[in-house]
Amino acid sequence: MDGNGRWATQRGFSRVQGHRRGKDSVKEIVETARELGIEFLTLYAFSTENWERPEREVDALMRLLRHYLRSEVNKMMRHGIRLRAIGNLRRLPREVLSDIRAVEQRTRANEGMTVQLAVSYGSREELVTAVRRLARKVRDGVLAPEDIDETLVSDSLMTAGIPDPDLLIRTSGEMRLSNFLLWQVAYTELYVTDVLWPDFRRPQFLEALDDYKRRERRFGKTAEQLGQEV
Ligand code: IPE
Ligand code: MG
Repeated sequence: MDGNGRWATQRGFSRVQGHRRGKDSVKEIVETARELGIEFLTLYAFSTENWERPEREVDALMRLLRHYLRSEVNKMMRHGIRLRAIGNLRRLPREVLSDIRAVEQRTRANEGMTVQLAVSYGSREELVTAVRRLARKVRDGVLAPEDIDETLVSDSLMTAGIPDPDLLIRTSGEMRLSNFLLWQVAYTELYVTDVLWPDFRRPQFLEALDDYKRRERRFGKTAEQLGQEV
């Protein structure tokens, strides 16, 4: 979710105003995804690198996150939405973490859609943590190096149990991954739009999904091979 700051600056507003509008986009996209029957939606809300932003902006983002969780939890319950957070959550202010845990706890049995919130998240950090965990198991003699395979690596990441994304949408025109789900997006379809996140609403989301539907996902195979499989 990128472009809140630019959206605000273009209008002579403060960056925080942009984040506030961005929160409205989050609500609309979650709602739309649920209506469409999308089972998993991951939102990259705050990266490990975002901690370097001015304290005032970080504080405002944390406040908005708490507002979002508190104002949406009842709707999540009504709509069967399960929330889970990934990232280095220990870096979060205590009250933010406790709000996240409370919503995770309340929504844990919901089966309609999983919203995965990446907050204080960085994919390299996630990989380092996973490598350390595996290395410890090898050291302790409970895991043989040759038993480390792709499935085990996937299962060692914070996204364990969540399928790899089919589609990654990046707003505001930036052509980069910005440390997001590096392992998980190996075969993900990428969609980049110039639309800034506060303007990314239902119609723009439907357009992205429409574009995705027209893609041919070959996973390294030839088009002919795929034709034979069906
Ligand atoms: C939102 O957009 C992303 C968050 C960290 C919440 P930005 O704040 O990165 O907006 P730009 O890139 O400055 O336009
Ligand atoms: Mg940005």
